[in-house]
Amino acid sequence: MDKPKVVLGVSGGIAAYKACELLRRLTESGHDVRVVPTASALHFVGAATWSALSGHPVSTEVWDDVHEVPHVRIGQQADLVVVAPATADTLAKAAHGLADDLLTNTLLTARCPVVFAPAMHTEMWEHPATQENVATLRRRGAVVIEPAVGRLTGVDTGKGRLPEPAEIFEVCRRVLARGVTEPDLKGRHVVVSAGGTREPLDPVRFLGNRSSGKQGYALARTAAARGARVTLLAANTGLPDPAGVDVVQVGTAVQLREAVLKAVTDADAVVMAAAVADFRPETYATGKIKKKDGQDPDPIVLVRNPDILAEISTARARPGQVIVGFAAETDDVMANGRKKLERKGCDLLVVNEVGERKTFGSEENEAVVLGADGSETPVPHGPKEALAETVWDLVARRLG
Ligand code: CTP
Repeated sequence: MDKPKVVLGVSGGIAAYKACELLRRLTESGHDVRVVPTASALHFVGAATWSALSGHPVSTEVWDDVHEVPHVRIGQQADLVVVAPATADTLAKAAHGLADDLLTNTLLTARCPVVFAPAMHTEMWEHPATQENVATLRRRGAVVIEPAVGRLTGVDTGKGRLPEPAEIFEVCRRVLARGVTEPDLKGRHVVVSAGGTREPLDPVRFLGNRSSGKQGYALARTAAARGARVTLLAANTGLPDPAGVDVVQVGTAVQLREAVLKAVTDADAVVMAAAVADFRPETYATGKIKKKDGQDPDPIVLVRNPDILAEISTARARPGQVIVGFAAETDDVMANGRKKLERKGCDLLVVNEVGERKTFGSEENEAVVLGADGSETPVPHGPKEALAETVWDLVARRLG
């Protein structure tokens, strides 16, 4: 079978160097990648680098190899066009249909899905001109990834940073797999919690759990790919922010509760994938707890944490809001799952068996999704993303 053909458009921003990593990921995962930089992009990374990494000639202009009609062929033959970084100028040209170089010609002739990963200073991103151009491109079906927040060129920080290449790659992979379809979570706001809370004992120690956050991040990524606005409440994961997702970092169960209550007010769906500590130490020692010679350690007294899932399920922030819980069980998995679904009052409960070598930290998962309506949807062993897609299928059906 022919390799899927990807056009990697690179426009002139300092983040162009990160596109080398995206290119490597695309080629190593079996894509035939043609790099089409703009003339300004070559100020940041030279044509020799793009050519050597892609194995194809590189040109910015329509006047090279004219007999091959590259300004039409490259776009026509592509299965996916991804522009990373996409500058304000390139977004403007794409939105207005200008075609003054090879990349903008390619964008006009492509009939495949197009992904833009913008990167620019915050002021440029927030300017109404850019925002209107982004809205135009999205209305026409392009995927425009929200820029990340963080360090920009020079001393500035803010929104406008190019998401990590691995995250842009994930978006491309998903868009390629789905083709151009109307995203079923478009216009929806979904909230996902991920990771595991940590309950501090003193400034250096905490009670925690083994949750890696990978399942929650897979849920956030897949929801964003299906068009949702996603708020990800991340508890101690250390994972890179998924592209195009609003990430709020939290530490403890009490902090997670506050963040959940704030985020759910306008949410259409909430998925509580985080492993929340049921208990926290009653007292917090402001200085490090020291061992005392010849004395037994003081016992740790625990108090109950709020049950966030039960709270938001009982007092729904919005009518019709769909709430999904996760149940991590080690014994009597299904029977405990059914009891938990009833006790928590959510609409769906993803029941999975956990253990030292099962689920936690792994890339794969296996579960049964129980519905409050009595339904049971088994999800066979597979990538955490596959389970995430099934959860969103069930949520989308309930949202109608
Ligand atoms: N959860 C929550 N708040 C808590 C504990 C759990 O919101 N204080 C949520 C989790 O995010 C998950 C679901 O409830 O979606 C079930 O978590 P789990 O740890 O399996 O259940 P527990 O409530 O701890 O019940 P049990 O002690 O019986 O296992």
